[in-house]
Formats: sequence, structure tokens, C-alpha cells
Amino acid sequence: MSERTLAIIKPDAVKNNAIGDIIASYEKSGLTPVAMRMMQFSKATAEGFYSVHKARQFFDSLCTFMSSGPVVVLVLQGDNAIKTNRELMGATDPAKAAAGTIRKAHGANIEFNAVHGSDSPETAQFEIAYFFPLMEIAG
Ligand code: CMP
Repeated sequence: MSERTLAIIKPDAVKNNAIGDIIASYEKSGLTPVAMRMMQFSKATAEGFYSVHKARQFFDSLCTFMSSGPVVVLVLQGDNAIKTNRELMGATDPAKAAAGTIRKAHGANIEFNAVHGSDSPETAQFEIAYFFPLMEIAG
């Protein structure tokens, strides 16, 4: 079933010039970008995006990191896009991520982990709408 997921190439991966490599990984895995923007989050934008995590001890540090430099935000479309992207990203902690995954290749630790991907259809719907009006999404 074709579905959409939201991906973020985080500030660490942008700084490491990994944008092209990561987008190539999406495309090779059958995930087609249908919307994309490069931007820098304000702290408030990061806090709103990650509001489900606001009670976690890492919340402030996560939002500081996510607003520390430019990111690339994408909507990816493909068969089982949410699960496909989560498998492609690998475990949240790059030390536990399988070989061949984006986080294994580009992540440094559980905070500086290169990419984000939606974890469920409900989250994908919220996350896509957080950044993209429907009329800006191709297809
Ligand atoms: P992400 O997929 O963007 O979703 C939430 C983020 O919180 C996660 O990736 C990590 O970058 C971060 N995160 C999760 N657990 C921890 C942790 N224990 N310490 C620091 N950051 C974390």
C-alpha cells in the first residue's frame, strides 16, 4: 500500500555533507520524495514537532540540537513508506543500528543520529501537516 512518511535530515548530517547520500538511499529503497524543504528550526518549532517527548529528560537537549543548524524536511512516498524508512534508518541509537542503515553510516550517538522518520500513520499525518500544506505535496 502506497503511503507517505515524514523524514528529516538532521543538523549533524547536513553539516557532514550527507544530504545527497541520504536522499540517494531513500530513492534506492523505493521512497520517492514528493515534497522537500531546507530550513532552520526555531527552538519553538522543534518543541512543537517533538511535543510527544516533552516529559523526557532529553527533550531540551534534543530541541536545542534540532534548532542548531539547517535541516532538510521531506515527505517520502512509497509502498509501506513508514516501515521501509524505519528499516532504512536503523535503530535510534547508531551503535545498535544494523550495517547498511543510514544511522550506522551517518549517526554519531542516540542524540546526533542523522535522520528522523515518522513511527506510525497517525504520527506521519501530524508531522507532514506540521511542515507542508497539502497543496505543496506532489502527486
Ligand atoms: P528521532 O527519531 O528524531 O525521535 C526522537 C529523538 O529523540 C530520537 O530520534 C533521538 O534523536 C532522541 N532521543 C531518543 N532517546 C534519546 C536519549 N535517550 N537521549 C538523547 N536523545 C534521545
